[in-house]
Amino acid sequence: MVHMDVENFDVKALLSDQTMSLQEKMTLFDRVIDEARAKKIYLFFRTTTGPSEAHINAVTLEGGRPMNMIMMASNNYLGLTTHPELKERAKAAIDKWGIGMAGPCTLNGNTTLHQEFESKLAVFKHCEASMLFPSGYSANIGCITAILGKGDVFIGDELNHASLIDGARFSGAKRLVFKHSDTVDLERCLIEAKSLPGQKLVAVDGVYSMDGEIAPLRPIVDLCKRYGVMLMVDDAHGTGAVGKTGRGSLEYCGVEGEVDIVMGTFSKAFGSFGGFVAGSKPFINWLRHFARAGMFTAAVAPMNVAACLAGLEVMQSHPELVEKLRENAAFLRNGLIEMGYEVGRDETAIIPVFVRDRIKAYAIVKEAYERGLFLSLIEYPAVAPGSERLRVTAMATHTREDLVTALSMLKELGHKYGVLVNPGKAL
Ligand SMILES: Cc1ncc(COP(=O)(O)O)c(C=O)c1O
Repeated sequence: MVHMDVENFDVKALLSDQTMSLQEKMTLFDRVIDEARAKKIYLFFRTTTGPSEAHINAVTLEGGRPMNMIMMASNNYLGLTTHPELKERAKAAIDKWGIGMAGPCTLNGNTTLHQEFESKLAVFKHCEASMLFPSGYSANIGCITAILGKGDVFIGDELNHASLIDGARFSGAKRLVFKHSDTVDLERCLIEAKSLPGQKLVAVDGVYSMDGEIAPLRPIVDLCKRYGVMLMVDDAHGTGAVGKTGRGSLEYCGVEGEVDIVMGTFSKAFGSFGGFVAGSKPFINWLRHFARAGMFTAAVAPMNVAACLAGLEVMQSHPELVEKLRENAAFLRNGLIEMGYEVGRDETAIIPVFVRDRIKAYAIVKEAYERGLFLSLIEYPAVAPGSERLRVTAMATHTREDLVTALSMLKELGHKYGVLVNPGKAL
């Protein structure tokens, strides 16, 4: 039976309960949220009152006057959400194109602006062509379901993003899952898949969104080539943020031009929203005509395309942004390791800070928020129960003072809640 009190509330048990009706489940869940709000531990859907930047104004947990806070929970890695050039180009696009295309690219929504951006994205990703989608989520769904159907085989890392998992589910293909970044286990799946009929696809995250780890793409590419299986990399968190010049996880791993399909999003380093898939010309033409999540939905608004096109130009002409992001992430990460936090292993802007205790994780995020530090709490279903963590993200626009303030607060909170378990040692 599902625990009623908010501290012990078991969402997994609620979802799998066979004895309650949906109405009963909704009523119970609603009560738990009300109780969490009353105890000021409802940490989702916190409300901000201004732009998403390194400093934000956010409404207090009591619903009181907005407070100025340091934001360390945003994927706005390069600070482009409010970049003057992107804003100007978006405004100019409204003047030129209006606020939307009122239809899909397939029919009436395709503009010269969309085409220009798709061509430039393809070059950026060392591919022949690319296609825009309304979001990264729909890009993954559209792409996978255009490739696989019933009788086909999807092979994915166990920590893949939900949108890859959902794409595989929606396709109806048989799903084989390999242990996280374990290429021996991937090969086991490839061998199993060899004996099965149908089209095969391997899909991995380039940068794992909850762990900040970069996939071992070199051996993954080699294995996929050896077994003749298509490879798709979701580079949502790599694009603009990883690799010497910010071209992503493929640049970092030295495999540009060797991956069949590269997916990305504009909701992270680009600071906006929308998604894309890049690949060979025949593949992108296939997607244009068979990716239902791209065909049966309206074209991305020109103002958004214009802003992202400007974002791409800014990324390429200002390599110091990605350099600064790396520097800030390293400063944060090293500081956390020195004070004894257990953190993730790779040097990306996503720093998982393991608490491994739901109640303590809530307490830390709540107290940090009340003191002006905005952190994300990550728990089931985003990660496995028992691996609760804070997801601390660096931005190129954080000042050294921001980082020092955040670290000193986290040090205090780590001591207070007894989570500094691993002094001086990274995972
Ligand atoms: C790895 C990964 N893929 C895809 C997505 C979906 O991207 P979007 O926000 O553009 O829908 C996300 C966003 O959370 C992500 O982290």
